[in-house]
Amino acid sequence: MADIDYQDRIPNNVDLSSDKRLQRALESWQPDFLNWWTEMGPEGFQQDQVYLRTAVSVDKDGWAQFGHVKMPDYRWGIFLTPFEGERKVNFGDHQGEPAWQAVPGEHRYTLQRIIVTQGDTEPASVEQQRKLGHTCPSLYDLRNLFQVNVEEGRHLWAMVYLLQRYFGRDGREEAEALLERRSGNPDSPRILGAFNEPCDHWLSFFCFTTFTDRDGKYQLRALAESGFDPLARTCNFMLTEEAHHMFVGQTGIQRILQKAAERMKQGDPRDFGAIPIDMVQRAINFWYSVSLDLFGGEDSSNAASFFGAGLKGRDRETELSEHTGLDQAYTLRKFSPDGRASDVEVPLRRAMNEVLRDAYIGDCEKVIASWNRTLDKEGCDMRLTLPDRKFHRAQGVYAGLNFDPHGNFVSAADWEARKSAWIPSLDDTAYLHSIMNKPHYVAGEYADWIAPPARGINGHALDFEYVLFATPRI
Ligand SMILES: [Fe+2]
Ligand SMILES: [Fe+2]
Repeated sequence: MADIDYQDRIPNNVDLSSDKRLQRALESWQPDFLNWWTEMGPEGFQQDQVYLRTAVSVDKDGWAQFGHVKMPDYRWGIFLTPFEGERKVNFGDHQGEPAWQAVPGEHRYTLQRIIVTQGDTEPASVEQQRKLGHTCPSLYDLRNLFQVNVEEGRHLWAMVYLLQRYFGRDGREEAEALLERRSGNPDSPRILGAFNEPCDHWLSFFCFTTFTDRDGKYQLRALAESGFDPLARTCNFMLTEEAHHMFVGQTGIQRILQKAAERMKQGDPRDFGAIPIDMVQRAINFWYSVSLDLFGGEDSSNAASFFGAGLKGRDRETELSEHTGLDQAYTLRKFSPDGRASDVEVPLRRAMNEVLRDAYIGDCEKVIASWNRTLDKEGCDMRLTLPDRKFHRAQGVYAGLNFDPHGNFVSAADWEARKSAWIPSLDDTAYLHSIMNKPHYVAGEYADWIAPPARGINGHALDFEYVLFATPRI
């Protein structure tokens, strides 16, 4: 492992100082990144000291350093998991060839699109979450929000490194464009749908980090299999940080459920300013379905060419027994506009998005089961479910059709009449804003709608000062 100087302007294990052209490109991008961070990063907290972890190496046991830091001073670094000299392309038409250390000319444009699309999601989520600090349920949660935000910033750095190092002028232009699009902006939106949805309260934030960051996990896992070695190693290290984002989401919802179940023993959770479980279910339905869309079309020529070219594999590709994806089919259920179902056989390579979506769905099922264990433990007999994959889709073969959460076809009129029971209504949002109308800045204090976590960060107590304010807030 290359030594990493924590004091470097751009901490890295890619021997940046030996590539002056690249170093200059990144150093000239850095002020633009900081301008973007100041303008579009967490609003109102840039002067405060936040107890953050910073990636300082790729060592499994000690890759992070913890300490209070002002967010604009955060060390956004570039880390790839260590170079494996023998790595090969493990799937597709080039299987068995040495993994590429430079961009193969024929796949240049495709690879660039893959990297830009992944890169675009990273700043987008920071933009979506930028006002949440003003309604934080505790300092612990405020810190977790900012931890997720700075790491998404680092993921942007990771993708920009690849663009600037391997894609020349085009890459530099794309790196700038990543700072110019804006989540939810009608003229210049982020590339993917879920990253333009408002995330303006904490139930959305916890669902986003559970379901949308988990889409990220599967995209990164597929790219970690890539025959383009620098992309594979970059994504591999990003997964280390991603685990915490999903932890924040999963435990956030778990604590909301715990509080709701406690209150249900006394009456309607609303009477206590807690969040009713059916409202949590609607938020799950929404964020899970928009996250399913991120995987792309079920029958996709792009997916086939990404796989065939060895650019994007399946989840845990190397553990599978077969790596060509040829002479196999995936059975896909399609629906006509009037709701008649028919099964079609899609060549497996064309169905790779759906194969990845299957892996994601299996993972989400486990999360739901863990939340249901919380409800069970609290003596509550309500249960959460994942909606069917066809529910509320805007991409792929189910887009434009209506299905209930069980996956039954329903008419457009039915959907309109019943959707407020299935996805968050304006009333839900108004209620959530009413109970999340003020921040909780006192160490150890928690909002009425969420239980304290089981333990603090990095061995610290629940009433640790996870954020030290530059000027008193209370
Ligand atoms: Fe990320
Ligand atoms: Fe993330």
